[in-house]
Amino acid sequence: MLEHRIEQSFEVRYSYPVCFTRGALTPANPLLSDLMRALPPGARARVLFAVDAGLSGAQPGCIDAIEQYALAHADTIELVRTPWIVRGGETSKRDPREVDEFYGYVRDLRLCRHSYVVAIGGGAVLDAIGYAAATAHRGLRLIRMPSTVLGQNDAGVGVKNAINWQGRKNFLGTFTPPFAVVNDFELLASVAAADRRAGIAEAVKVALIRDRAFFDWLHLQRFALAVLAPHALEPMIVRCAELHLAQIRNAGDPFERGSARPLDFGHWSAHKLEELSEHRLRHGEAVAIGMALDVQYSRRLGMIGDLAAETIMQTLCDIGFTLNHEALGHLDVEQALDNFREHLGGQLCITLLKGIGEGVEVHHIDIPTMRACIADLQASQRQARAETVPLEVLS
Ligand SMILES: NC(=O)c1ccc[n+]([C@@H]2O[C@H](COP(=O)([O-])OP(=O)(O)OC[C@H]3O[C@@H](n4cnc5c(N)ncnc54)[C@H](O)[C@@H]3O)[C@@H](O)[C@H]2O)c1
Ligand SMILES: [Zn+2]
Repeated sequence: MLEHRIEQSFEVRYSYPVCFTRGALTPANPLLSDLMRALPPGARARVLFAVDAGLSGAQPGCIDAIEQYALAHADTIELVRTPWIVRGGETSKRDPREVDEFYGYVRDLRLCRHSYVVAIGGGAVLDAIGYAAATAHRGLRLIRMPSTVLGQNDAGVGVKNAINWQGRKNFLGTFTPPFAVVNDFELLASVAAADRRAGIAEAVKVALIRDRAFFDWLHLQRFALAVLAPHALEPMIVRCAELHLAQIRNAGDPFERGSARPLDFGHWSAHKLEELSEHRLRHGEAVAIGMALDVQYSRRLGMIGDLAAETIMQTLCDIGFTLNHEALGHLDVEQALDNFREHLGGQLCITLLKGIGEGVEVHHIDIPTMRACIADLQASQRQARAETVPLEVLS
């Protein structure tokens, strides 16, 4: 029999800046140091820098730049050790070594919840270090400096982190907003072209579900995006990050407790296609195919017209995505939908389109129709056109 019940209830307000800059590690740029300045007079921020090996390999000067930056801002920043180089890409999420090493540093260097971790890297390193920073002492202050396009316009700006466990992607993770995000466009120069292009898929995604004007702009800029021209890539990153942040802020479910996942448009099949291709397909490349599939499905259901569907497909192709990848032939629709539902929890919730810029959630997918859409894509003769782009779009 119930004798006593206390209804506990409180709210926590989260707020963090997402900044865009150039040369964040140049001593003359005060941004990073200012972010860490809210200290009692005389105290200095104790800071551990974790740097993606892909970045430090491609831009070897960045380690020295961090040390010079800390020296120039010695009134604010105390480096607790030389910048720590972390293996880049999925390895850092797959293998527990990085997380373990991080906990070792926290213990040995006596970092506490007021210390800062500045993680500079692609989405994978940000996820792994973010997870480690969120769990050591129940949470150190994390400043993310995403160094890939996908990191800057999606993975690095939100509230999630994760590592893989026994081959299960993102099996362990937390919802932990960062202390701040610093997007430095100059870090992108050394990212492989295919990795830069893959990040554009997330912009097309968020435009398709939320912002028709942004989609129209992406369509207009598609050839400039195909050759990764900074004058198109940079505003694309800012708008894409803005839309992701607005979704997290305004949709009423920042920690994803309900079933709706509009930002996962095109993702139910993408996750599977990545696996089926043994990760030869990058996440963004798989998302482009996943979106094409769900666009076909929305068209077959009469939710969007032929012209809109055609424009979307052409935009994706012109940006340089291949939509009829062989992995489609091995896609088990039922299993992929089931895995997607299980990972997100609750009932199946798939975002489709009822127009460009208008995502809509459905809870049922007709398997034979979806299979027919796969066949449509496989039969499509559409080719990525990135290689044939006129050079004048670079200007
Ligand atoms: N937490 C989230 O909300 C969220 C959202 C989307 C994706 N993700 C995760 O992000 C990861 C994908 O991120 P990604 O697309 O950035 O790829 P990535 O992190 O795998 O990086 C791609 C490659 O680029 C290298 N690299 C990074 N910066 C570089 C630079 N400036 N110059 C040269 N090389 C550089 C890396 O070492 C790696 O080899 C996935 O693990 C995905 O699950 C997380
Ligand atoms: Zn994604």
